[in-house]
Amino acid sequence: MVPEIASRNHVEVISNVMKKAVNEAKIELEDIDAIACTYGPGLVGALLVGVSYAKALSYALDKPLVGVNHIKGHIAANYITYPELKPPFICMMMSGGNTQIIQVKDYNTFEVLGKTKDDAIGEAFDKVARVIGLGYPGGPKIDKLAKSGQPNIELPKTHFDNLNFSFSGIKTAVINLHHKEPDVNKEDLAASFEETVSNILVEHAIEAVKLTRIKKIVLAGGVSANTCIRRKFDELSKKDDLQIYYPEIKLCTDNGAMIASAGYYEFLAGNKSNLELNAIPNLTLS
Ligand code: KG4
Repeated sequence: MVPEIASRNHVEVISNVMKKAVNEAKIELEDIDAIACTYGPGLVGALLVGVSYAKALSYALDKPLVGVNHIKGHIAANYITYPELKPPFICMMMSGGNTQIIQVKDYNTFEVLGKTKDDAIGEAFDKVARVIGLGYPGGPKIDKLAKSGQPNIELPKTHFDNLNFSFSGIKTAVINLHHKEPDVNKEDLAASFEETVSNILVEHAIEAVKLTRIKKIVLAGGVSANTCIRRKFDELSKKDDLQIYYPEIKLCTDNGAMIASAGYYEFLAGNKSNLELNAIPNLTLS
């Protein structure tokens, strides 16, 4: 992704996307209660486009402004798919820039139980896909390719004594294998990569359940669209009597609806921003 091109693309589409959303909802701008936008984490240029647009809209319409943490947005995508879903739960947050296990104590109270020490899981999917010639974004392409393969290649898993993750070892192992044995079956490699990372996620989720005694697990982020990961968590739910939730596919990848959903809960809690709101590229959960 080229940051400058990404922010220019945001400038080109943001106004039309907003107008289309309002038209499809069959409302007028005046009917909106509050304007939510994400202010981080992410690429600063793209974030600034959204933040500036939201501030201008909030000022012009005289409506409250609500700054939303992007990660909270991914979690809140699940409240759209499952209106009955309520915290507390454990969230497996899996995207291109983040991999974390989060204890969601309430709509606005979070504790990070573990996170990646190196690559985010989506980054590992994307790098593996690039090396085996699938292109970007790699996650959906690996997902498709793996469906015609067998998970018959053993790949390494990095273990920690806590709930942290590492995905760089498995990523490098796949890349090295592909370079050393160019004839290795790509479908099997994709299936083995998916199988191994899915098992890592499930093992971590089991540990988080033991630690917190919370039996509700929610998947979030772009990688939660993955077929193998969903299947492994579904299997876990049957075996261990856990409740598993994952957003509908269109709400897994970055989208505005999830930011509106998180903004709704911030708004209810009285968490409003002012016109000094700024982009914070490395914003963390608190
Ligand atoms: O959450 P997201 O849309 O953006 C970030 O906030 O990072 O996640 C994008 C990531 C990319 O790495 C993409 O390859 C991955 O999600 N992804 C998938 C699938 N669909 C998207 N990874 C595995 N399987 C998928 N089906």
